[in-house]
Amino acid sequence: MPATEKNETAAETGAVEVRETRRLTGEIRIQGSKNAVLPVMAASLLHRGTTVIRNVPQIQDVFCMIRILRTLGCGVTFAENTLVIETGTLTSCEIPEKEAEKMRSSIMLCAPLLARLGEAVFGQPGGCSIGRRPIDLHLKVLAETGASVTEAGDRMSAKTCGLHGAAIHLPYPSVGATETALMAAAGAEGITVLTGAAREPEIGILCRFLQGMGVWIEGIGSGTLTVKRSAFLRDSEFTVPGDRIVAGTYLGAVMAAGGEVFLRDAPDSAMGENLRMAESMGTETQVFPEGIRIRQDGRLRTVSLETGPYPGFPTDLQSVMLAAALRAEGISKIREMVFEERFATAKELQKLGAHIIIEGNTAYVEGGRRLSGALVRARDLRGGAALVIAGLMAEGTTLVDGYSCIARGYEDICGDLRSVGAAIRFIADDNYAHDRAGDRW
Ligand code: EPZ
Repeated sequence: MPATEKNETAAETGAVEVRETRRLTGEIRIQGSKNAVLPVMAASLLHRGTTVIRNVPQIQDVFCMIRILRTLGCGVTFAENTLVIETGTLTSCEIPEKEAEKMRSSIMLCAPLLARLGEAVFGQPGGCSIGRRPIDLHLKVLAETGASVTEAGDRMSAKTCGLHGAAIHLPYPSVGATETALMAAAGAEGITVLTGAAREPEIGILCRFLQGMGVWIEGIGSGTLTVKRSAFLRDSEFTVPGDRIVAGTYLGAVMAAGGEVFLRDAPDSAMGENLRMAESMGTETQVFPEGIRIRQDGRLRTVSLETGPYPGFPTDLQSVMLAAALRAEGISKIREMVFEERFATAKELQKLGAHIIIEGNTAYVEGGRRLSGALVRARDLRGGAALVIAGLMAEGTTLVDGYSCIARGYEDICGDLRSVGAAIRFIADDNYAHDRAGDRW
């Protein structure tokens, strides 16, 4: 359900109230991809002109990126899920700290700012607290394409007399560092060959956006990308595909609650491992040109999976699978191989009565047990969504505090799930504070 035009400045704070719901039925239209649109917005700075981006989700991370682009001097309008970015008035190279610390994607602005202005001033990016999340690979890429980075307190300044092509190897297929490398290469003189690149679908989407701007790229979909900037970049229009993680989240909701839901605009070609895992647990998935039909009746089978770089199982759906596994009778095993601290949600699920044991980077989930509603807290974006899914299975009412976490990546999780029958609503801070004061929990 498309959200009404949201307020670009006020982050929605409050909680999600969700009651036990058996069977979800109907259709959800999947929003545009957060992790695709953010690098595309950053890459629009490479071209001095106009970029139109369609199917942009109205989420807090997009609003944050809009504020940053405006602070840098760009003209940005956002209406009806369409962004128009004018970069002819780009003047500042300083990424505002207050905004940058809200999301990881702020680091992606460095390469285009260096290409355009020869300088970028930035700090440690923010984002979900799911591990240390260093930026050493981003800095390696910037250095190898001709930037020198100096630190001043907790800020860093990167400068260049002009980026140049390079042979860059990533020792780990970092998604963000691959995106930084693509944007640096698109703004560099000469040819860049990037090996060890990430192969996530969002990389291919960024490549196609850059090609639309006039950048020459070969090797899309492989771990080796060859990039050659063009003398003249051009105005372009681009439509963001559906969000594979949001689609995987709602797939998890049907696995947990049961029912039959059509996920319109779900990008099936980017969800291979996710769909295979769901099928192995007994969930029916049927792919159509317009989307994917999910059907879950009867028992769910246990799962044994480990997350990994694409085409492995996406780490962003690890928490969702922790929740869905609570429906499967028996012991499921879920290993987190990408981030070192991405099991914080397990502690919140235990407040609902979940039996989850964490040993190192592996979670053992004993499913099939009764869950009871409780007050829980979203620790990170995808963990918050997983708690909403668990609330669908818990007797009584669950309150998921920390909605602002979830709103970073989900345009309208309450409206989407309510449209297929979930007993769910958003409670704004003031009402919720009253309930809390009344010690309803
Ligand atoms: C992107 O984060 C996504 N975010 C994440 O989604 C996603 O979980 C992640 O890719 C992996 O798929 C966006 O696209 C905005 P990485 P990113 O660089 O780029 C280490 C969500 O919920 N690393 O591939 O930060 C890092 O610590 C978010 O939508 C370095 O060591 O991920 C991690 O262990 C959460 N040095 C591993 O690589 C670096 O310089 C993967 O990180 C960079 C990364």
